[in-house]
Order: sequence, then C-alpha cells, then structure tokens
Amino acid sequence: MEHQFGAGLLVLVEGDSTAIAADEIGNAANAALAGGGGVDAAIHRAGGPEIIAELRARHAFGTPAGTAVATGAGALPARWVIHAVGPVWRGGDHGEPAQLAGAYLSALSIAAELGARTLTLPAISAGAYGYPLDDAARIAVGTVAESLRAGAPLERVTFVLYSPRTLAAFERALTAFR
Ligand code: APR
Repeated sequence: MEHQFGAGLLVLVEGDSTAIAADEIGNAANAALAGGGGVDAAIHRAGGPEIIAELRARHAFGTPAGTAVATGAGALPARWVIHAVGPVWRGGDHGEPAQLAGAYLSALSIAAELGARTLTLPAISAGAYGYPLDDAARIAVGTVAESLRAGAPLERVTFVLYSPRTLAAFERALTAFR
C-alpha cells in the first residue's frame, strides 16, 4: 500500500529491514545504542561489527529516547543506518507519544541533512518497548506523512513491517490519514 504526500511517496511493505535497499535504513535502537534484539539485532547481524564500533566511537554516551543518530551501514544494502530511539511504553502519560514522534522526526531530519532520497523505517517501539500497535502506527504514519507534506526532501519513505498484523495496523493508519 502507498500514498503520495507532497513530493514524497509513503510506502508500507511487509518484510525484513535488512533485506530492503535504501539510501538509509532505519533501526529501532535503545538509548545506550548498545544493540539488542528485534530489528536492532538483525541490523547488527547483517551489517557487521563496524556499525557497533562506530556507535561506540562516535556516540559512546548514547542518545535519549525521541532522538536518533546515523552511522555507516557496513554490509547492509544502504549508505547509512539511522539508529532511532523510541520510548518504552509506560501507560501513555509519560510523554511517550511526543517521544515516538520525535524519534521519527529525528530520523527524517538526519536523512535530509545527509542528502538521502530513500529511507526505510521499522515500527519503532511497537516490539520490545510495548507501545500499543495501533497508536504506534498512527503516530508513525501521521508524523512521516505530515513531514512529507511539509516538504521533507525525500522521494520515498518505506515502513518495513515484520508481520501481517503490524502491516494491517499501518494500513489502517494510512487509510485513516490520507
Ligand atoms: N525488520 C523489520 N522490523 C523488524 C525486524 C526486522 N528484521 N525484526 C523485528 N522487527 C519489528 C518488530 O516486530 C516490531 O514491530 O520491529 C518493530 C520494533 O520492535 P523492536 O525491534 O523490539 O524495537 P522496539 O520495540 O523499539 O524496542 C527497542 O528492543 O531490540 C531491542 O535494542 C533494542 O533495546 C531496544 C529495544
């Protein structure tokens, strides 16, 4: 499923972020940038040790929830990886929605700074961090769509969704937003 917002195309696909080429591949990292499970594990496994080495060298103190940092992409089919940190879900009244939107906005902002034209993003916080899926999808799609409408210089932003259930939630969110 896809929809044009301004000059940018927002695309939803089911798949594995490490297997889809883009200028930048988005990761769902933790504030320590220490690697972990989920898409973080897949990216480090497929990208190789140089990614964690760069994180340790350039971002030794990590980055807070709601922000992101970029590294090279190692053996992944990309030029960069954007390590975005979403919030841990703690009930919804600890600033989680703004932090989740911030993680996506940081990823888009870094992509623009680096001159990327295509970007993939996972469903940040919707896994180990426990964010309710439909709320996470609405924030993800709404944040990216509004940024594209406002002129974010990206040709294509693709959400790579790891299960039919996650894809369906994002399709509902995109149908409601467009
Ligand atoms: N490609 C794309 N999406 C994936 C992949 C993959 N290879 N593997 C998992 N996912 C999906 C999950 O199914 C979920 O929908 O990514 C989404 C985010 O889940 P997590 O990876 O668990 O990320 P998050 O919920 O943001 O939690 C981040 O978990 O893996 C650790 O180091 C990470 O501490 C951090 C925390």
